[in-house]
Amino acid sequence: MNKEQEKLKARAEELRREINYHNYRYYVLDDPVISDAEFDSLLAELKALEQKHPWLDHPASPTKKVGAEPAEAFSTMKHSLPMYSLDNSFSLQEMREFVRRIKKNIPGTEPSFWVEPKLDGLAVELIFDQGVYAAASTRGDGYTGEDVSANIKTIRNLPLSLLEKENQPEYLEVRGEVVIPKQDFLRLNDLKAQRGEKVFANPRNAAAGSVRQLDPKITASRPLYFFAYGVGLKRFKGDYQWNSQEEISTGLRDLGVPVVQKGKVCRNEQEIEACYEQQFKEREQSSFEIDGLVLKVNELKLQEKLGFTSRAPRWALALKFPALQGRTIIKDIHVQVGRTGVLTPVAILEPVKIGGVVVSRASLHNENELRAKDLKIGDQVLVQRAGDVIPEVLKPFKEERNGTQQEFVFPDKCPACSGPVSRLNQEVALRCLNMSCPARLEQGLIYFVSKNGLDIDGLGRKWIKILIENGLVHSPADIFRLDKKDLLPLERMGEKSAQNLIASVSEARKKATLPKLIAALGIQHVGSETAKKLAENFSNLDELSVADEQTLQKIEDIGPEVAGSIVKFFSNPDNQNLVQEFKHIGLWPVHRPESGKEQPLKGQKILFTGGLQNLTREQATERVESLGGKVTGSVSGNINIVVVGENPGSKLDKARNLGLKIINEDDFLELIGS
Ligand code: IVH
Repeated sequence: MNKEQEKLKARAEELRREINYHNYRYYVLDDPVISDAEFDSLLAELKALEQKHPWLDHPASPTKKVGAEPAEAFSTMKHSLPMYSLDNSFSLQEMREFVRRIKKNIPGTEPSFWVEPKLDGLAVELIFDQGVYAAASTRGDGYTGEDVSANIKTIRNLPLSLLEKENQPEYLEVRGEVVIPKQDFLRLNDLKAQRGEKVFANPRNAAAGSVRQLDPKITASRPLYFFAYGVGLKRFKGDYQWNSQEEISTGLRDLGVPVVQKGKVCRNEQEIEACYEQQFKEREQSSFEIDGLVLKVNELKLQEKLGFTSRAPRWALALKFPALQGRTIIKDIHVQVGRTGVLTPVAILEPVKIGGVVVSRASLHNENELRAKDLKIGDQVLVQRAGDVIPEVLKPFKEERNGTQQEFVFPDKCPACSGPVSRLNQEVALRCLNMSCPARLEQGLIYFVSKNGLDIDGLGRKWIKILIENGLVHSPADIFRLDKKDLLPLERMGEKSAQNLIASVSEARKKATLPKLIAALGIQHVGSETAKKLAENFSNLDELSVADEQTLQKIEDIGPEVAGSIVKFFSNPDNQNLVQEFKHIGLWPVHRPESGKEQPLKGQKILFTGGLQNLTREQATERVESLGGKVTGSVSGNINIVVVGENPGSKLDKARNLGLKIINEDDFLELIGS
């Protein structure tokens, strides 16, 4: 290192120390000693340094995250029964040895095995007290975890109260895995790459990173799911009516807790093997990453006999599926232009078969990732199908280099339109700034018709490309002007398909809601949740398109970045025109702002008992809360309304005894205006 480099390194280190200290003051002590502007300028200086001199970059640099170490601010929670790990095995041979060992250790018994998918996520324990969600913790070191109650509470498929059953446990610890769907993992990574943030290596890291967030709102915005595979406390003391893993699984499901799917009882090695073959085949179809099977002795009595080693139960085994990795060569690196103009480097690979699928391309996310991994054109590389679907280049085999490998030079022009490219607000990503760049148009249209947007059935990537190539669409509005005679001349477009396409476009126009249309525009930082918030505050696109940043920032969860992005979008005359075109063609959904609405349930306490037919408990709770009411879990004299669904529990009797107002589901729907 020369003198100049030493100076740069010292400055970077000094900045990191300072920034870390101010983060700590701000996030942990809640007592900042410098202004936000001063802080921002420190951060900007460090970012600029790291960008200019990538060798200075450091994975633990404060430019790589927002705020202090979250772990320091979570409180801890002790597990009543340690959360053990699992012994791993990688072959059917090891599985057979496990079965033999079990049988030898508990002679004279006939154990069966509960076999279910091993989900690749984050282990958590939930506590339901009196049937109501009370707390959640991570596994931590197995004995003590982090209290992530507020974050886990936001998980969409998690019930906040158990279904009422006669034998509902008063206190229940549920153990399971928090996971993120593979597709959402990809989407989240795209977003992170666009922002120049470090991408998650796999769905497990994405799930863990989303749960271990100090701000539960961030967790809430992530599409997380929970699936239970076991129970905790007093497991062996006869407190549960359940005698086997199978009964735990059905018992939890009956209480309304989502459980790991596809569990099965196997009686011997052959059945386990058959189960393995089947699940291995099916794993690609699963929305979630499955990295193997978990085998558990089914009978709890036998589990008790077998006990635990210091780290894992003797009655369980993880049987891992083979890793989806392969070795190949980077033939070239192309640059793809996304709908917001972001330029993404993509590795073009010598095709290689990994887990039965031929892989020939892999996203390299952004220039930083590419540099951090030190990838060159011509490199031999290790490729992994992370998340089962998207291939990722893990690393180059540097020892194989022979001097022919070439450094990739990022283009200084858009590869699609040759327009100018630049970095916005110190982002890592380069963007094409030409709003009418054909590559941007194509990606924007693909997004517009996708599930994230108007969800037009039968109109996907392939047809969008063809429609653009044939000059039939130049903007999203053109899709609604298509008619059969435009489509018929297209190759592979028959009478029937043309008719279907026109029908689904017309169906999409009818179904379009304001939140969906806003989301479909693909405004940077405006996903479906933000779109909903916007739709609650503006009654149509005209109103939204003239809102200024100040007005937008008054809306919950909309900060300067999002507000800025919205205003920028509508300040573009092309986008203003688009809004007018939508109006013209009758794609003009309107929305009643919720906030202006009166709150008919203001101050009312509502209790549900029994299952609802038309809504989930969560949806019902959401509605009640949005109308000003509160939902409670236990019966008491101060409840205003009791809503009775199918198979109500003992709460109904108690409510009757207390003389509370009792209504059925239809009355409730009327009450909430559904
Ligand atoms: S049973 C005593 N079942 O795998 C431990 N674990 O590698 C019993 N996991 O920490 C665990 N899917 O978080 C079990 N169907 C499943 C699972 C599962 C995922 C996780 C679990 C555990 C880790 C061990």
